[in-house]
Amino acid sequence: MTITGIPRIPFLDLSRQHKEIAAPLAVAVDKVISQGRFILAEEVSEFEQEWATYCGTSACAGVASGTDAISLALSACGKIVAGRGDEVITSALSAGYTALAILQAGAVPVFADVDPETLLLDPSSVESRVTSQTRAIVPVHLYGRVCEMQPLADIAVRYGLAIVEDAAQAHGAWKPQRAVFELGSIAAFSFYPTKNLGACGDGGAVVSNDTDLISRVKLLREGGHENAYWQSVTGRNSRLDELQAAILRVKLPYLAEWNERRRKLSDIYDLTLASSNDVHPVRRGRRSAHHLYVVVSTCRDDIRRYLRNEGIETVVHYPFSLDQCSMFGRQTGENKHAERASSSVLSLPMNSHTTVSEVAAVCDTILRFRKQARSASLQCI
Ligand SMILES: Cc1ncc(COP(=O)(O)O)c(C=O)c1O
Repeated sequence: MTITGIPRIPFLDLSRQHKEIAAPLAVAVDKVISQGRFILAEEVSEFEQEWATYCGTSACAGVASGTDAISLALSACGKIVAGRGDEVITSALSAGYTALAILQAGAVPVFADVDPETLLLDPSSVESRVTSQTRAIVPVHLYGRVCEMQPLADIAVRYGLAIVEDAAQAHGAWKPQRAVFELGSIAAFSFYPTKNLGACGDGGAVVSNDTDLISRVKLLREGGHENAYWQSVTGRNSRLDELQAAILRVKLPYLAEWNERRRKLSDIYDLTLASSNDVHPVRRGRRSAHHLYVVVSTCRDDIRRYLRNEGIETVVHYPFSLDQCSMFGRQTGENKHAERASSSVLSLPMNSHTTVSEVAAVCDTILRFRKQARSASLQCI
């Protein structure tokens, strides 16, 4: 870090994005405040239509967060009875919120391993975890890269399971062709501020071609109220609010261009780091929203320290596999690729407003690491 403690190259500086769209943002926020309608009015319903169209689906329900989007989508599938020991299989390498959402839907999260190359959910590991209690699969489109859905859809059909895709990191990943939804599944998005499409607060959405399912999510997000004072099911209070919807509507037209900037920066990283013996980019796969640029390294912590001393901020997604977390009640030790990844992955600065010269500086620093590590006689070299 620099003397001030502020990184020379931040992992993410959202003020840059907001500077680009400051004027339309201010107009949108001002409009909502002056109209005085803050909950489930026209901004939310317009955004729901626009987001469904962008995703190539027929319906969308805006909710309060990505976590709620996953858990309400699972509940709306109607396969889970809370407390019965129903199981939902998901990736051992994800944000803890994925597993939390499964718990909140009343099910037990069961973790399957990832493919060692892509770090995406491995269908053969998923199938080995299926029991008579299994009700659904939650594939995670990790780092913005789309999972191979066909093998997972085949498993779902074989065992009568629902699929709810955790697309919290994958806004627009399937563009230009539809892929995520071709299998008739349900996808859950987060609009947490750091996401490719981020609000200025929390937010989330469920999209699907199943309009009945989206109607059930809408019922559940409003406490289960069928009308003003009549609750027919146990729901929760989980609404996308008008201010966040208005902000998302300003940002949505920029998403494709911002994702393209991410792709170009990822290409520069790939090309330049190809000559490094110390870090190896995680394979990007067929489709990606390039949410994060992630490398693996056997000397991850040393490189991270070195970068920090050079003023470059990095993040680890994720330092534990979910089955190592005692809160989820399992210590299987069976997800060895996810566990190995948790000690070797490193996310480098890369987002829509990172500059080409910042990426070049990060690459230079990584390429210089080996020399420094040799003189310090680090074990990993
Ligand atoms: C993969 C994944 N799933 C779920 C979530 C939860 O989203 P939210 O923070 O909007 O609840 C996140 C966000 O951190 C995420 O990255």
